[in-house]
Amino acid sequence: MKSLVIFYSLTGKTKLVAQTIAEALNAELVEIEEVKPRKRGFATYLTVGFAAITNKESQIKPVNVNWNRYDMVFIGSPVWASRPTPAINSLVYANNFQSQSIVPFFTMGGDNADKALENITAKIERSQGKVISSFAVKSYGLSDEKIIDGAKKAITNYTN
Ligand SMILES: Cc1cc2nc3c(=O)[nH]c(=O)nc-3n(C[C@H](O)[C@H](O)[C@H](O)COP(=O)(O)O)c2cc1C
Repeated sequence: MKSLVIFYSLTGKTKLVAQTIAEALNAELVEIEEVKPRKRGFATYLTVGFAAITNKESQIKPVNVNWNRYDMVFIGSPVWASRPTPAINSLVYANNFQSQSIVPFFTMGGDNADKALENITAKIERSQGKVISSFAVKSYGLSDEKIIDGAKKAITNYTN
């Protein structure tokens, strides 16, 4: 079974989780990049938070993925204002998953990504994807080792 892990990450936490699960599942790994890199800081926080709340897209670099090559696709994003990121909205809005099995996942500062998972599930389903499960990994205040542990725990269902 061939899997793909595709993700967006601003500060590297989602990237760490994506790399960990891709390695554990022997999956291909694709990073989504925005055309205009974001500066970090309070103004960015407000702008991107608002963009996420309003389900906006952002301009992303071309993604050449043949979805039909994969039985399972993991789509990863940080939680921004309880929602998926604009870059991931762009990915999901622009593609038709043709009943592909999709596993959305998030990294988050808080303890709960339920709202973000609900939001992305509806968007994936509108793009014909079938959400078969999902997970979220906490990143705030945790070392890379702890985040990697969290990622490994989250995917035990897929590795056993
Ligand atoms: C603009 C912005 C909004 C955020 N909103 C939330 C939120 O609503 N809930 C949450 O748990 N974490 C929130 N966070 C924290 C991130 O989800 C968390 O730090 C994530 O692991 C960062 O992933 P990254 O390093 O891949 O960019 C927010 C971070 C940013 C920058």
